[in-house]
Amino acid sequence: MKHFYKKGQDERKPTLLLLHGTGGTENDLLPIAEIIDPTASILGVRGDVSENGMNRYFKRIAEGVFDEEDLLFRTKELSDFLDYAAEQYEFDRNNIVAMGYSNGANIAGSLLFHYKNVLQGAILLHPMVPRRGVDLPLMKNLPVFIGAGKNDPICPAQETEDLAALLSEAGASVQVYWDEQGHQLTRGEIIEAAKWYKRLFK
Ligand code: MLT
Repeated sequence: MKHFYKKGQDERKPTLLLLHGTGGTENDLLPIAEIIDPTASILGVRGDVSENGMNRYFKRIAEGVFDEEDLLFRTKELSDFLDYAAEQYEFDRNNIVAMGYSNGANIAGSLLFHYKNVLQGAILLHPMVPRRGVDLPLMKNLPVFIGAGKNDPICPAQETEDLAALLSEAGASVQVYWDEQGHQLTRGEIIEAAKWYKRLFK
């Protein structure tokens, strides 16, 4: 997968896995990663799927309707890529914290839904429920931060509540931050995500 890796100053820190929104690139969340943890290593990965020229991590049938077969295929691809990248760049495979926005948050959620111990934590910014009606792996106290907008037309509030409930039922320790805004990233959620991260990973 197309990506960049930036080695951090502190190797004990998690590697931050950056996953962009539809139409983005692997560099999009870099300024936010610098706020979350300027000393961590960073792995930015570009989605392999093109939707009319816009990069995504998996195909969709319509807005908010995912191509489940492709979702499963791409989730495995990303999981395998993390194994490869950890070996290639010699970072700890068991210490990756994902930060994804929108479509990137959805593939990060899908990693958690389908693979046990795949991440050490996750910052999901405006995520949806990646898949319904499946048993989730045990996520014993896995820290998950969700940033959501009360007026998000793409990820309705119920979607956020369902996702938080499903992850919590699987054992994850979920913190949800609500803003009054829509689908866009807000300063408030980034500040809260940074506080959450500092509390757990510093
Ligand atoms: C998705 O397709 O993953 C969601 O609808 C969010 C987005 O528009 O990327």
